[in-house]
Amino acid sequence: MSKILQFQNVNKNYSLGPNQVLALNNVNLEIKKGEFVAITGPSGSGKSTMLHLLGLLDQPSSGEITFNNHKTHKLSEKKLSVIRNQQIGFIFQDFLLLEELSVFDNIALPLLIHSGRSKLTSIEHDRVMKLLVELGLAERAHHLPSQISGGQKQRTAIGRALITEPKIILADEPTGNLDTHTGEQIIKLLTKLSESTGSTLIVVTHDQKLAQQADRIIKIIDGQIQ
Ligand SMILES: Nc1ncnc2c1ncn2[C@@H]1O[C@H](COP(=O)(O)OP(=O)(O)OP(=O)(O)O)[C@@H](O)[C@H]1O
Ligand SMILES: [Mg+2]
Repeated sequence: MSKILQFQNVNKNYSLGPNQVLALNNVNLEIKKGEFVAITGPSGSGKSTMLHLLGLLDQPSSGEITFNNHKTHKLSEKKLSVIRNQQIGFIFQDFLLLEELSVFDNIALPLLIHSGRSKLTSIEHDRVMKLLVELGLAERAHHLPSQISGGQKQRTAIGRALITEPKIILADEPTGNLDTHTGEQIIKLLTKLSESTGSTLIVVTHDQKLAQQADRIIKIIDGQIQ
């Protein structure tokens, strides 16, 4: 299998006033196309930081990230945003839904950004409806994020990440707010989709049962891979 993402000597520093936090400390890793990887580790160990860098949402302080054989520091911000929209689905730890848009419209938004149109085609509309049903959100399609539960917000964020059938799905604690049964359904949906489309799945999780299902577990402590 060829590699889709590579980190070489990646460091990530956050500076907060006079203080520096070394969130990632000399990380080297390779992720292959189609692989299912779980990232585990204690709170504050650098998991979300690593996922943001893997999703090309942020640049390392030093070191190199390669995406599909492209060195990312050589790509323009415009090119990076096209890659993010067309090839990467990101499920954020704190969801980041648009509060003024309904559940349906939040999930549909990446399709509109992708096409540059202001309206969905009927095929796209049906795709959003089908995904809403799979996520158990059909009854909440026209609710705003402020009118749904935490678990439903999480499922909306998952729908928004999956609607474009991205090559890479990155999920930060995707089952964190869900009961066991709903959590298992969501993982089934994520793995089913990644298997059927051959997409790469990278999941940050505290859930050992979920991590065990992955092809590989990356454990991170104090910003370093163990
Ligand atoms: N924007 C920021 N500015 C300063 N420090 C930050 C920033 N974001 C994260 N950190 C620090 O970097 C370290 C790694 O944070 P990160 O969010 O990656 O941890 P995490 O493993 O995802 O934790 P959790 O399991 O609690 O989500 C932590 O010590 C955190 O306080
Ligand atoms: Mg985190």
